[in-house]
Amino acid sequence: MRVGILTGGGDCPGLNPAIRGAVIRGLGYGWEMVGFEEGWKGWLEGDTTPLTYQIVEDIVRKGGTILGSSRTNPYKKEETARQAEAQFENLGIDALIAIGGDDTLGVANKLFKAGKKTVGVPKTMDNDLSCTDYTFGFDSAVQVCIDDIDRLHDTALSHRRCIVVEVMGRAAGWVALYAGICGNADWILIPERQPTEADLSAMVDHLLERRKQGFKHNIVVVSEGVKLPGHENKEVKRDGFGHEILKDLGVARALEDYIEAETKARGNRIETKSVALGHVVRGGSPSPFDRMLGTRVGVKAADMVKNSEFGMMAALRGLDMVSVPLDEAVGTNKQVSGDWFDLLDAFQR
Ligand code: F6P
Repeated sequence: MRVGILTGGGDCPGLNPAIRGAVIRGLGYGWEMVGFEEGWKGWLEGDTTPLTYQIVEDIVRKGGTILGSSRTNPYKKEETARQAEAQFENLGIDALIAIGGDDTLGVANKLFKAGKKTVGVPKTMDNDLSCTDYTFGFDSAVQVCIDDIDRLHDTALSHRRCIVVEVMGRAAGWVALYAGICGNADWILIPERQPTEADLSAMVDHLLERRKQGFKHNIVVVSEGVKLPGHENKEVKRDGFGHEILKDLGVARALEDYIEAETKARGNRIETKSVALGHVVRGGSPSPFDRMLGTRVGVKAADMVKNSEFGMMAALRGLDMVSVPLDEAVGTNKQVSGDWFDLLDAFQR
């Protein structure tokens, strides 16, 4: 057996543990393990690298991905779609383990539907993939957000300021929700609850109320996918899969201006600053949770190849590793809902 592995989409801590898990399990089955550089780009170009025990020896503690990544979408054009399908035969690959988010796994699913042997491994710091309780990358990213927010509390308090902290997460507010609650933010804005003018006004009421209660600084956490009233149709660039590059919306910067102007208009100006944490939170060593989760989904993916469970994704359900259809996993994103809103409301009334 010659089994390929690639990592696609935005990198995050946990990719290397997942590669290591799949490689060690696959080598244990006596297979040849082959890595493809830079996601689907390397797949299309046949850019391979051998994956041996030596190569994966010490990667569990390293951030990023030793294979590199890209947002290349083979199904963007008919010609590259057919080429991607032909690569199994061209390169003598018996099965492919694709590690990625909904875009990368969406391609793996299309290849499966075209009769190819693919298995998916879920990753994303956004934690927005359906059919799995958590994706690796999320825990590590939240940890970095919290470390940074802790620091921002210190400087905000010294200067009696409000600091607006923007975090990634695309159309899901998981990172903002966890970072905001665990980082003791005064207000948290997430894309699942796009704010109206009235919501923003309630936020300012709350910030001013905190000052009246004697608190001398404020932290607001906002997810990059939040679109302020009047900014909903702002045009921004898109990536290879058609997603808006949300950081270009500059929501934290816009909120900074809004809070300062609005508090001034109400006679109690709060000096406000903003920071977008951006890609910083995607770097660094994976947390223990992500090392273990990455390892488990990687090992599970190799087992799924062994058991011919193609067109499926390794997933975490409770404490168990299970396999779920790729079709279901990439169909809809997992967003903040239900009880999570109650939790959010408990902290910002
Ligand atoms: O999907 C992961 C993610 O970090 C999103 O939170 C963010 O919107 C996007 O990737 C950024 O992508 P890129 O690294 O291509 O700028």
